[in-house]
Amino acid sequence: MLSKWNDPLSIAIPATNSQLFSQPDNINPAIELDAVSTPETIEALPPIDPNDKRIVNAKTDINQLAPFKYGWAWEFFLNANKNHWTPLDINMAQDVHDYRHKLTTEERHVYENVLAYLTTSDILAMRNIGLAVMEKMSAPELQIYQARQVFEEALHTWTYQHCIETIGIDQSEIYNRYRVVPEIYGKIKLANEKLSQVIDNNLDLTNRDNLQQFAMSYLFFAAVFEGCWFYNGFSPIFALQRRGLMKGTGEQFQYIMRDEVQHCAFGLRVIRQLLKEESLTLDPVAVQSMWEEAEAAEVAYAHYILKDPILGYSAEDHIGQFRFIANRRAKQLQLAEPFPGATNQLDWLDEQASMRKEKNFFETRVTEYQTGAALTW
Ligand SMILES: [Fe+2]
Ligand SMILES: [Fe+2]
Repeated sequence: MLSKWNDPLSIAIPATNSQLFSQPDNINPAIELDAVSTPETIEALPPIDPNDKRIVNAKTDINQLAPFKYGWAWEFFLNANKNHWTPLDINMAQDVHDYRHKLTTEERHVYENVLAYLTTSDILAMRNIGLAVMEKMSAPELQIYQARQVFEEALHTWTYQHCIETIGIDQSEIYNRYRVVPEIYGKIKLANEKLSQVIDNNLDLTNRDNLQQFAMSYLFFAAVFEGCWFYNGFSPIFALQRRGLMKGTGEQFQYIMRDEVQHCAFGLRVIRQLLKEESLTLDPVAVQSMWEEAEAAEVAYAHYILKDPILGYSAEDHIGQFRFIANRRAKQLQLAEPFPGATNQLDWLDEQASMRKEKNFFETRVTEYQTGAALTW
């Protein structure tokens, strides 16, 4: 027997042709021939019609990217990839000093509890998009943006962890805080309730009741959870940042907020398209009830984190801003304003959240991390 000296895993080669082709006497050649399958004739498929794509329950091949039906979803993906950052890029040295020597007890209470809420929220967000929503989308351009979104939510969780670790906050305590503080747990509990029903991968979306439930669940996630609770959730830290405190954390949150604004905008766009394609109508009573439940949870949370107001920010500011942003989200969906008459409590927030303006003020490194064209706000 011969073998290749330089390929020890190659099979040994018989020395002669007779060894190579000889068969044991007990094998019937006719049976062997029958066992060999002949190649199946594969017929060509017709090209896909992009009109057959659907947000859910597509009527065409889900693995073919183009022609696009939802070109806007692909644009979201391209835009998201213009912004690459990690929490390690931002200098947190001054924050360590501020936390230890400059923040008041009340300000430290705000800072820690905002982190305690957000860190759990972002894991919940990652799981909801990755395990519940993305799996039900039936056009690849939608799923591709959501794959990016899953990564961004994980990045946000890393950011909070980086802040907690750098500042030196007791991790075992801070990560358990949402469980032991009812006012924080109230928001997480409500989100779990609203989202848990659709995390079932066997949910049959050809059933109209299930589809309606999915639309309401996604509405809660995009409009309330990301569109209000995250958007508004960073405000107390931006209030510190405006006063020159915890500027590193503030900058980290600006990066996160930029992602969250896109997540919310994408989610609302998906919902509008879903309602149109499936001829669904949201029950206005159920929608109003959703806003009021979210408001009740936010009020309790605000009164806990700001039981003693800090300079330039109060529970009333936080709650009023929640109502104002909720109206904005409802209008984006052509829904009735849930809190008529709510006014902008934080007229500095949109500007504060804008990275390009902050760059000039704090002379940070934002421009270098904007690897493509600027996002529009
Ligand atoms: Fe996030
Ligand atoms: Fe998000």
